[in-house]
Amino acid sequence: MANVPGGAGARAAWRGVVQEYRSFLSLPADAPDVTLLEGGTPLVPAVRVGRGADLHFKIEGSNPTGSFKDRGMAVAVSAALQAGARFLVCASTGNTSASAAAYAARTGLPALLAVPAAGGGVAKGKLAQALAFGARLVLVDGNFDEALAAVRALAAARPDAALVNSVNPMRLEGQKTAAFEVCDQLGDAPDWLCIPVGNAGNVSAYWRGFCEYRRAGCATHLPRLLGAQAEGASPLVAGHEFERPETVATAIRIGKPANAHLARAAVAEAGGRFLAVSDADILRAYRALAREEGLFCEPASAASLAGMWAAQDAGLIREGQRVVCVLTGNGLKDPERAVAESDPALHAQPTAEEITACLPMELR
Ligand code: F0G
Repeated sequence: MANVPGGAGARAAWRGVVQEYRSFLSLPADAPDVTLLEGGTPLVPAVRVGRGADLHFKIEGSNPTGSFKDRGMAVAVSAALQAGARFLVCASTGNTSASAAAYAARTGLPALLAVPAAGGGVAKGKLAQALAFGARLVLVDGNFDEALAAVRALAAARPDAALVNSVNPMRLEGQKTAAFEVCDQLGDAPDWLCIPVGNAGNVSAYWRGFCEYRRAGCATHLPRLLGAQAEGASPLVAGHEFERPETVATAIRIGKPANAHLARAAVAEAGGRFLAVSDADILRAYRALAREEGLFCEPASAASLAGMWAAQDAGLIREGQRVVCVLTGNGLKDPERAVAESDPALHAQPTAEEITACLPMELR
């Protein structure tokens, strides 16, 4: 049924993170309101995979370009316009570039995107987005860490460029709004927040958001943080950088997280933990989310659930505790992985009999 003004389904329309949370954002007063109506994403309770936790999923794949990056990009691009930038630039494992490309198209700014071509590169859906939005997509002969170093040097030499990676403080400003929403949706902060960690910006942004919301009297306590890294790209667990990070979760294939210092401080203050999860554990969580919860996220996002399971096994997260796992990106981002992890499609002639024969045995 349509939302008729004043009707049973009527409520104030969502206005995007800049307008919804402006008083919490350190954005110059004269910065324009750039938005694709990002944020306001669902918090969906788990039905099967919680293993005794009171588990909820923050569905960040519901953002306009299918990942949490849109929250930060809205604020970063708003600040970039206010500062007079002439183009956007970033390095990316795919989602930042898709988001930057969208907000660039929206505002009319050109975007220059450097993505790794090495080691399997970036998931197809993300490349398709960047190209569709008309950005200049540069496939770099190296990994994400090398691409980021290069664009940081570029931005330092070009005052007319806005670097929109999470080293841009405005990105974290925007992304902290997800923590506000979690508190609003649960009525308070959860006991634990489980989140995948790559360049380590998002975990830092959530922590800032929870702290500010509690200070403002909008939450009574702070959560503990569980930062999940893929084993082959787990510098925050191992305590050293990875020169050749490797994981099926391409979004978090990062060996030298630019925000490591912020993330370490956040997890220490929160009495939390970084945990490494194997690719097999990530893919187990990825399949369980889709098949047992009806939630299709990309592999990196499933690291949050794999991390929660590992924390339960380690006795860190206890029975009945309220946990939020952040599902950072939509499953459609990486269609090739989805097909590889699934049963093959069946084939039939267009007859009722042949199609019926495709039912599982007990239903035929
Ligand atoms: N999940 C997804 C789907 C991501 O795309 C990323 C990061 C993360 C988690 C980790 O967040 O870097 O703040 O710790 N993607 C970046 C990108 C690096 O370029 O799209 P983080």
